[in-house]
Amino acid sequence: MTALINDRLLRALRREPVDVTPVWLMRQAGRYLPEYRATRSRAGDFMSLCQSPQLALEVTMQPLERFALDAAILFSDILTVPDAMGLGLYFEEGEGPRFRQPVTTPAAIEALPIPDAERDLGYVMDAVRLIRRELAGRVPLIGFSGSPWTLATYMVEGQSSRDFRTIKRMLLDQPEALELLLDKLTLAVTDYLNGQIAAGVQAVQIFDTWGGTLTTGWYERFSLRPMARIVAGLNPAPDGSRVPVILFTKQGGLWLERIAATGCDALGLDWTVDIGEARARVGDRVALQGNLDPVVLYASPAAIRHEVGDILARYGAGNGHVFNLGHGIHPQIEPDHVAALVDAVHELSLPYHRVQG
Ligand code: CP3
Repeated sequence: MTALINDRLLRALRREPVDVTPVWLMRQAGRYLPEYRATRSRAGDFMSLCQSPQLALEVTMQPLERFALDAAILFSDILTVPDAMGLGLYFEEGEGPRFRQPVTTPAAIEALPIPDAERDLGYVMDAVRLIRRELAGRVPLIGFSGSPWTLATYMVEGQSSRDFRTIKRMLLDQPEALELLLDKLTLAVTDYLNGQIAAGVQAVQIFDTWGGTLTTGWYERFSLRPMARIVAGLNPAPDGSRVPVILFTKQGGLWLERIAATGCDALGLDWTVDIGEARARVGDRVALQGNLDPVVLYASPAAIRHEVGDILARYGAGNGHVFNLGHGIHPQIEPDHVAALVDAVHELSLPYHRVQG
């Protein structure tokens, strides 16, 4: 395999010295880019885009052609796993994801198959292999999955939810059924991420978008424990190196110490957390990724630059910071504003790394 030309991301995730702070953005390939919208309309719909390795490669590369990003992220979706379990994923224009067969009964959960990454999600593995070849070591490729809890919310609710009343009722009235669902998802996600690692991803992120809606006790049992089992079950890369794992629990700021104790390599932070305080709490154990409010990107380039400077100053000098947003980019953002963000991270972070040997 080609050696990496730009290895800032992997160095920062290992808390090793870097020249400037690396930056990538959640949803960096997406609807805010006109070239993404063009490729998606050629594909016909979002799922066809995900299921075509050639088109997934094309949209993965689009933000790298425009911006000096330090990583590529596989273009796919977290809901491909429940789709491969037979739930029938589809996207209703403007309404988000839906399942034709939500799982609402213990019998339906019992019957769920655990997909095999190469057999049932081969289009994702093929996309990873194509992207690695095309990148040729330019930047590392990040793979990802949803957390078992976050996937379960969509599978049980059947769609996005405001208050998660169906799955929380299952949690209270049928906890064994929910545990079984989470056990199956834990196996499915571990195999899926190991498939991506075998195919060539160089870091992985687990998106726990909805863990932050739980009580602390429920979070530990139903979201954090499954993620810890996944972290423990991940394989090394084909060359034998450890593949760093980033855990991102949105609204997980209360639980940083507990998340760091899973054995993950980095924590993703949403924008409600002071990244300097987070560093004082867990920075001797894990790297930190984040955490600009995505809404800042609606403001002027000067204001964006100011906010970037503020986060870099709060983190302070030294290793272990990966710059990112606190959640995904909104579809209405002006691409020039993303360029202002990426350039500001590289320019303004230089003084924080100079002292490094
Ligand atoms: O970050 C990237 O560039 C990689 C691609 C990526 C997508 N989805 C593409 C996508 C990643 C990492 C995801 C993760 C994902 N998907 C999450 C976790 C992160 C988060 O945002 O909280 C979740 C909860 C989903 C489920 C999902 N997929 C929803 C709720 C939606 C609809 C909402 C929306 O933004 O439209 C999607 C669709 C989706 N996934 C789009 C993209 C680019 C938009 C689809 C389109 O082109 O119309």
